[in-house]
Amino acid sequence: MAKSVKETDKKYVMNTYNRYDLEIVEGMGCNCYDVDGKEYLDLSSGIGVNSLGFCDMGWVDSVTQQVCKLNHTSNLYYSQPCALLAEKLCKRTGYEKVFFCNSGAEANEGAIKIARKYSFDKYGRDRDKIITLVNSFHGRTVTTLAATGQDVFHNYFFPFTEGFAYAKANDIESVKNLMDGSVCAVMAEMVQGEGGVIALDKDFVTQLKELCDKNDILFIADEVQTGIGRTGELLASSHYGILPDITTLAKGLGGGLPIGAVLANEKCSGVLGFSMHGTTFGGNPIVCAGANYVIDTIDDAFLKDVREKARYFREKLVELPEVESVSGLGLMIGLKLKNQIASEVVKEGIKKGLIMLTAKDKVRLLPPLVISYNDIDKAMSILTKLLA
Ligand SMILES: Cc1ncc(COP(=O)(O)O)c(C=O)c1O
Repeated sequence: MAKSVKETDKKYVMNTYNRYDLEIVEGMGCNCYDVDGKEYLDLSSGIGVNSLGFCDMGWVDSVTQQVCKLNHTSNLYYSQPCALLAEKLCKRTGYEKVFFCNSGAEANEGAIKIARKYSFDKYGRDRDKIITLVNSFHGRTVTTLAATGQDVFHNYFFPFTEGFAYAKANDIESVKNLMDGSVCAVMAEMVQGEGGVIALDKDFVTQLKELCDKNDILFIADEVQTGIGRTGELLASSHYGILPDITTLAKGLGGGLPIGAVLANEKCSGVLGFSMHGTTFGGNPIVCAGANYVIDTIDDAFLKDVREKARYFREKLVELPEVESVSGLGLMIGLKLKNQIASEVVKEGIKKGLIMLTAKDKVRLLPPLVISYNDIDKAMSILTKLLA
């Protein structure tokens, strides 16, 4: 790796990321290359972002055409890529309206604002509590850190936003115990990603949705990591047979450009009025051109292919002697290892040309959704040696 890049980065970029010793300079599909031309097989998608892999030619074309036509206008005016993307997302998911922003944390902030305003309009003040789940992850802003159900994130940046309470995942009694009349919403990831790639139980989600509906409490699904085909459905909530009141998206939606989205049903799509929410870059034409290409590509046939490849990959992974269990849904995969340490395996993987992630004590795989069977076989052959 070019020494100067590492040194310059270390000197001038704030020291908030523990970077691996790797500088990726180009990529295509599931493969990328470092400065020395060494090839890597990518099972990380830039943490779930590159849903179509590196530099998909159709995506590049859509983005490039838009760059050359119109870069930005502001939200004071209408723009076709934004309107088209909103229509496609609503029609594909069954939601009524969408708000566009720039990241997952921001999408969750928007959802929290909608939930509190919905309750304020209907019930007045003091019905503002949001229940989230222990071990969840909802972002890094002061409010979404507070929403995150892990003590380790509730440090240094006091005072955190008030009004969050944490229930145990898959324990409906734990949720009921927190329902004291001050609750306006429940927010959950269908598969806890950063928390260790743990899918919620179907019974729990069904009961949770019923409980919310009965008490006019909004159900917010944080699909920042699980959304846009990652689990083999456009939204992971489809696996559970529910359509939450609000779903947040980010990561894979833009295919490599920063975007977040808050999808709301008819109950709460009109809650935010003029000047109650906004962001300069939200719905930017270039970003939306990329997202339009992604959403067009991830059609029913594409999703079926994701489900089949995921089944194939998972069947192979459970057979590795060092793998104790395989968790998650679709191409959101967690590997609990018997003896080896996940972070060491990921470091060794990079040396052997395989890029993976960790989630808590697990190895986490978020391959591009376009991964081929050949690449899965290649990944398995490297992993088999790594875990031998
Ligand atoms: C479930 C979930 N929510 C929110 C976030 C925050 O997204 P962002 O980093 O885009 O703000 C993440 C990021 O990992 C996530 O996995």
